[in-house]
Amino acid sequence: MKISPKQLCGHRGVAADAPENTLASIRQVRLWGMEWVEIDVQLTQDGVPVVFHDDTLSRCTNGVGRLGETPYAQLAQLDAGGYFDTQYQGERVPTLAAVLAQVAADELHINIEIKTYPETDIPRLCDAVAATLSETEFPLERVLLSSFSLEALAYCQTTMPSVARAILWDVVPEDWQRYQDLATYSIHCHYRGITEVQAKAIKASGLKIKCYTPNHPEEVAHLWEWGVDMMITDAPSNYLGFEPTE
Ligand code: G3P
Ligand code: MG
Repeated sequence: MKISPKQLCGHRGVAADAPENTLASIRQVRLWGMEWVEIDVQLTQDGVPVVFHDDTLSRCTNGVGRLGETPYAQLAQLDAGGYFDTQYQGERVPTLAAVLAQVAADELHINIEIKTYPETDIPRLCDAVAATLSETEFPLERVLLSSFSLEALAYCQTTMPSVARAILWDVVPEDWQRYQDLATYSIHCHYRGITEVQAKAIKASGLKIKCYTPNHPEEVAHLWEWGVDMMITDAPSNYLGFEPTE
């Protein structure tokens, strides 16, 4: 089956090509011809929304400690690219505002995953995302808010009712329809976390389905047949069979 870049969403930018959740990684998305990028957002200690996946700094930067206990000025000094490859030394943990500027310039849609950990102040995080969307005047029709946190989604439902939402589940629960109102656009799940019956029922409800993070197309051939709309992948190269161009 021939896959189009329009059926793919870059995960954390294009995490296989460049250090995840950096501007370098996000710039790869347009080069592959994809129209969607997924990123993770959290707050620094002083409340700056930044694009970063883990709650600790050590895997993806040359720093240590917790992101949520680190002031932005300190975070901004850290290298977020050298661990991936020396050519990316000097990449920083980007602010959400910087990412939105890049995404707007590249005319992409953005799936903003509201990343929560047990210590996350969910209203504070969602309010900061809303403020950044407003301050940057990013086109809201190009935004999808997603989260594993039903609390975060419920909060966004109240505070940003016009922005599209997606529920994230590793495994779609049997009673997924109970939570359906928290999603206005799509259900996202692990590519092994959905059954054919569920996929067909979700599609019949009018919601789209996006699966993360299959990096090998042969693992998901059946999902396209079940009606899954999009794969959120680190490795578009494995699907598309061409090299990106400037
Ligand atoms: O949004 C899909 C995917 O990003 C969810 O898991 O851990 O990669 O943020 P994770
Ligand atoms: Mg994510």
